[in-house]
Amino acid sequence: MKNDIERVLITEQELHDKVAEMGAQISRDFKGKDPLFVGVLKGCFIFMSDLLRSVDIRCSMDFMAVSSYSGTKSTGAVKINKDLSEDIAGRHIIIVEDILDSGVTLNYLKQFLQQRGPASISIATLMDKPARRKAPVYADYSCFEIPDAFVVGYGLDYNERYRNLPYIGVLKPEIYE
Ligand code: IMP
Ligand code: MG
Repeated sequence: MKNDIERVLITEQELHDKVAEMGAQISRDFKGKDPLFVGVLKGCFIFMSDLLRSVDIRCSMDFMAVSSYSGTKSTGAVKINKDLSEDIAGRHIIIVEDILDSGVTLNYLKQFLQQRGPASISIATLMDKPARRKAPVYADYSCFEIPDAFVVGYGLDYNERYRNLPYIGVLKPEIYE
């Protein structure tokens, strides 16, 4: 598995430090607001579990599953595979996402949730690839701005593999070309 990685882009230590910083910031911003964290599966699972352990305010969490991707190419279509189990009317929503790429997924998801009347919707993403943006969506919280490379690890996959790498690595192009 490690032989398929060209280079480590973000180390375990850097992940730990930045994610903890984001958790502290969100705790300050949402104190007394009882936010609902909405994790976007599956890519969020490691980020979300680290992030939420550094959030020290009253909050709750739920998950959604959406698909928009096959391999390394965005299909442009977004499908809801698992919806929320909580009612979000009047709640402060924080969407937790692994990576903001074209923005198509989050743009769709934000509009989808907006129809249910939440008090607010914010976006917390581990990584942001602003160079690839196609839809008008911006992260309220972002740990790392990264260049246009396909990355895996810390929850992110290529065809369901590499999610278990403890760091963020750039996949060798020959793996997906
Ligand atoms: P978007 O709709 O183009 O913003 O794509 C968002 C989703 O595509 C993310 O939530 C990821 O699941 C996936 N994705 C985008 N870039 C990468 C990457 O570099 N590695 C792994 N998954 C990615
Ligand atoms: Mg994702």
